Amino acid sequence: MKTKITALFTIVILVLSLAACGGNTDTQTTQVQPETSAAQNQPDETTGTAAEPVTNTGKTLVVYFSATGTTKGVAEKIANVTNADLYEIKAAQAYTDADLNWHDSSSRTTKEQNDKSVRPGIASEKLSLDGYTTIFIGYPIWWGEEPRIMDTFAESYSFDGITMIPFCTSGGSGIGRSGKNLEENAGSGTWLDGERLNSGVSEAELQTWIDSLQ
Ligand SMILES: Cc1cc2nc3c(=O)[nH]c(=O)nc-3n(C[C@H](O)[C@H](O)[C@H](O)COP(=O)(O)O)c2cc1C
Repeated sequence: MKTKITALFTIVILVLSLAACGGNTDTQTTQVQPETSAAQNQPDETTGTAAEPVTNTGKTLVVYFSATGTTKGVAEKIANVTNADLYEIKAAQAYTDADLNWHDSSSRTTKEQNDKSVRPGIASEKLSLDGYTTIFIGYPIWWGEEPRIMDTFAESYSFDGITMIPFCTSGGSGIGRSGKNLEENAGSGTWLDGERLNSGVSEAELQTWIDSLQ
């Protein structure tokens, strides 16, 4: 009888201990999770990546394509404001006035913009992106989108580790999906939302825009 009571007592102790262990596990999970989440939102102390403005972490480059000079003017101002290098995307076959005639349904640009797979050649020397952490990438809006030569550029490089900032000029249209198209075609880089800029934008206005890019 004494043996039976001892055995029963041992079983009860064992069951209570196991239940207590289970309770501890639950308590630990709920305590640890919030700490982990909070830690994920903190800036990385070794790199400071979460705290630093996107444009102040390394060399900056302004890449642009401009058929009639408007985007070029804006690109030069951005380069002044950010102390950046400039790179012009020049078409292997330059665009003539006839090519740029959007009233002509058979002009070169109309045909190119109607075919998302066209990739006009680039004449400019191949870039080395070593050391660049920020690239402003500018172009005119053609038929609501980026000129196809911008897709040629986007597909020609790896933008890993680089913050890409699209900007455009236009007769009035917004930047639309052009930045997203470039991001998808590039397949690398961290792409921010783009901005349409007026041809007469001042350097002070550009500075305000750039400061807002955190
Ligand atoms: C073929 C072609 C298509 C254009 N399509 C548009 C358009 O869809 N919306 C718009 O607002 N402007 C359009 N424009 C006007 C240009 O976007 C604008 O003039 C731009 O600032 C030119 O820049 P660039 O001088 O750097 O080439 C078009 C111009 C051309 C040549």
